[in-house]
Amino acid sequence: MTAEDSRRIVLASRPAGRPTPGNFRLESVACPSPAEGQVLLRILYLSLDPYMRGRMSAAKSYAAPVEIGQVMEGGTVAEVLESRHPGFKPGDIVLSHSGWQSHAVAGGAHLRKLDPTVAPVTTALGVLGMPGFTAYAGLLTIGQPKSGETVVVAAASGPVGSAVGQIARIKGARAVGIAGGEKKCAFVRETFGFDAVIDHGAPDFAEKLAAACPDGIDVYFENVGGKVWDAVFPLLNSFARIPVCGLVAQYNSEGDFEGPDRLPVVMRQVLSKSLTIRGFIQREFVAQRPAFEQEMPRWIAEGALKYKEDIVEGLANAPEAFIGLLEGKNFGKLIVKI
Ligand SMILES: NC(=O)c1ccc[n+]([C@@H]2O[C@H](COP(=O)([O-])OP(=O)(O)OC[C@H]3O[C@@H](n4cnc5c(N)ncnc54)[C@H](OP(=O)(O)O)[C@@H]3O)[C@@H](O)[C@H]2O)c1
Repeated sequence: MTAEDSRRIVLASRPAGRPTPGNFRLESVACPSPAEGQVLLRILYLSLDPYMRGRMSAAKSYAAPVEIGQVMEGGTVAEVLESRHPGFKPGDIVLSHSGWQSHAVAGGAHLRKLDPTVAPVTTALGVLGMPGFTAYAGLLTIGQPKSGETVVVAAASGPVGSAVGQIARIKGARAVGIAGGEKKCAFVRETFGFDAVIDHGAPDFAEKLAAACPDGIDVYFENVGGKVWDAVFPLLNSFARIPVCGLVAQYNSEGDFEGPDRLPVVMRQVLSKSLTIRGFIQREFVAQRPAFEQEMPRWIAEGALKYKEDIVEGLANAPEAFIGLLEGKNFGKLIVKI
């Protein structure tokens, strides 16, 4: 190995609002060597996820920020190149959390072996990984959709939203998706099988959403916030459940939210309709992980649940792809092929 053999992308500076390519820096460093009990990994795929915007900011959050000069955090699928751990051998494919880089060392406790004959290894970053589990646990634990109810979810072509709508349908509910642009809407309707899909860019978005939900909304799986929330809110039925999973529309806002304060309106509805609104971070639902690992692969094998991946080539293209993710330029689970 030469010093050029390992490349990594570090956080060069914290963004003010929308991230720019200048917030990232591509570096070449000497390839690390595994200590006793560790393995050397060659990263094959890097997952890009909206939560990474939060890690770029120093604002207080549920997780510590990436420090300036540190490698950007991220889930990865990797090949073991060299092993000093009895449980792994060269050639093993593992799920790791190695971040935006081409090589890394890791201890065995943080690795999970993947079997490429069971499912494409990229699914460990999407439908069968953290985003799929977020959808499964958040919807079933907090949303609790029942047969005949209406479930609404935005970012419906992404890994979380697409699984939410399809699981809702498996449970007998009606799934109404919200997505950006006709191409994504058509895919959500035709491939993911949602009952209705509305483009949040349509000038009459709120009216179209109301027409697609004639019996109101029983579960709103909150992925985006902003104007989607404003359109959903008047349509909520009494005792609606709202798993608050993400607010991607405001991740670049740094606390500078448009419009007057709507909280008093929101809280009046929470009270008068006995709404249950609960935020969550997927790892709180670790008890549901075994059920997820049984049911999701079965639903995929039966054709009841489909997924879409958006694979970008090359580590150097990760910053631009990530910036686009926060603006809806991705189409499906965004993954970088290293
Ligand atoms: N709580 C947890 O543990 C947890 C875990 C994983 C993910 N999440 C959250 O789940 C949400 C979805 O994540 P994902 O990985 O599935 O992302 P994704 O759907 O692959 O990508 C984000 C999507 O958000 C949509 N979007 C961006 N800005 C928007 C806006 N202003 N209004 C409406 N939609 C907008 C875009 O789709 P369109 O072009 O269709 O608008 C974009 O493609 C995110 O909020 C994420 O932070 C939470």
